[in-house]
Amino acid sequence: MENLSRRGVLSLGVALGLVSVADSAKAWAWPAADSVAGTGTGADPEYVWDSATDPLMAALLKNGQVPSVNSAMAGWVNNGDPLPSGFPAELTAHLRQVNRLPSWADRAKLTRAADFNRRRDTYLFMLYGLGSGIMSTVIPREARSVYWSAGGADMQDRAAKTFTFGYDLSELRAFEPTGQFIVTANKTRLVHAAVRHLLPQLQQWKSGADQDIPISAADILVTFHSLGTYVHSKLIEWKIPFPAEDQEAFLHSWQVALHLLGVPDEYIPKTWAAAQAQSKQVLTPILAPTTEGIKLAEELLSLTAQVDLGVTRGFQNEFVRYVLSDEVGDWLGLRRDYVAAALVRTAWPTYIKFREGLSPIMPGTFYMMDQFVRALAMLFLNKGSSGTTTPITIPTGNRPT
Ligand code: HEM
Repeated sequence: MENLSRRGVLSLGVALGLVSVADSAKAWAWPAADSVAGTGTGADPEYVWDSATDPLMAALLKNGQVPSVNSAMAGWVNNGDPLPSGFPAELTAHLRQVNRLPSWADRAKLTRAADFNRRRDTYLFMLYGLGSGIMSTVIPREARSVYWSAGGADMQDRAAKTFTFGYDLSELRAFEPTGQFIVTANKTRLVHAAVRHLLPQLQQWKSGADQDIPISAADILVTFHSLGTYVHSKLIEWKIPFPAEDQEAFLHSWQVALHLLGVPDEYIPKTWAAAQAQSKQVLTPILAPTTEGIKLAEELLSLTAQVDLGVTRGFQNEFVRYVLSDEVGDWLGLRRDYVAAALVRTAWPTYIKFREGLSPIMPGTFYMMDQFVRALAMLFLNKGSSGTTTPITIPTGNRPT
């Protein structure tokens, strides 16, 4: 994997709206006082995995019990569902501990977050889909583990499963007994534990890895910043009305999500300012292209090209460049379309202004932009609105080679 110059890191961080000045200091210097726990051990999350889940999942994989766990898991969907009777006793005992909200969860904030997600879904689809989704391909560890895990062989299916997470998180009753998010997050935690056991057995993953075990707590925080922190910054940069209560609620839903994914509370940022500081430490310095990431980005962008978004692939490429910088676009080899580039840079801000009632003048390109965002939303929503979300299953192997 290529290394970025410090200068490159600085300009990229600024372009992504993630930092004002990036600090490439290596040591873990983010203060636990800024976390939801308010205190901590100071241990570097780079070397923290999931000690509660990983040994359990390794044993289930070794004993060949995962296929039967997957079958039992299919009927376990709502937060209020009893744990499946087909689960091995140790898995049931573990889930009894973790399949619930943390004591500090604030239901009123979670409900507000769901409402915010609904009100702002247009921008969220655009930013999560074309911003965070493509950013994940320039996060070297994430790109390589997604590529070499079983799911990497079918990106459409994987994208749909990942969407399940966002969809279940955004449901109005996501955290209530009839919602599904607590279960979805716990299933994801099991999947991550399985990946930690499986990927180190694959030579192709090992040969390019800079860690012995994938998906550390630090890696999960990186992904959170590429999603939540990035989207938060962009909404502010785009001057979308974003009241403080909405900002707080949006952060809170991510705090709870991180807790449910097994990240210790001492690493979960308490405020957006703390999240920005952490992002500056863990995300910005590590962005870089990889062979695997370039292939994944191409696959993801051709998925959206399969459906008519009302715009050309050149326009999509330029939109990605607009939200992630030309530097990222160049890394990923996104073909230039200068006419589309000029259009995106003028039409998108005008579209936002009109949509938000900040300008009475409807831009001539309004319908094209509107069709683009709606088509993209429908592409992602397809699974959700059909009522059947793609079930998350625990992998038993890596990408077939
Ligand atoms: C699986 C979400 C962090 C690598 C999944 C799944 C979800 C998910 C919903 C299940 C869907 C599926 O099986 O494809 C998240 C969220 C994260 C996060 C919300 C952080 C906020 C990470 C990180 C890595 C990673 C940091 C690697 C560095 C993987 C891999 C799979 C997976 C390899 C398994 C794909 C397979 O089935 O082969 N993740 N993830 N994830 N995730 Fe994550």
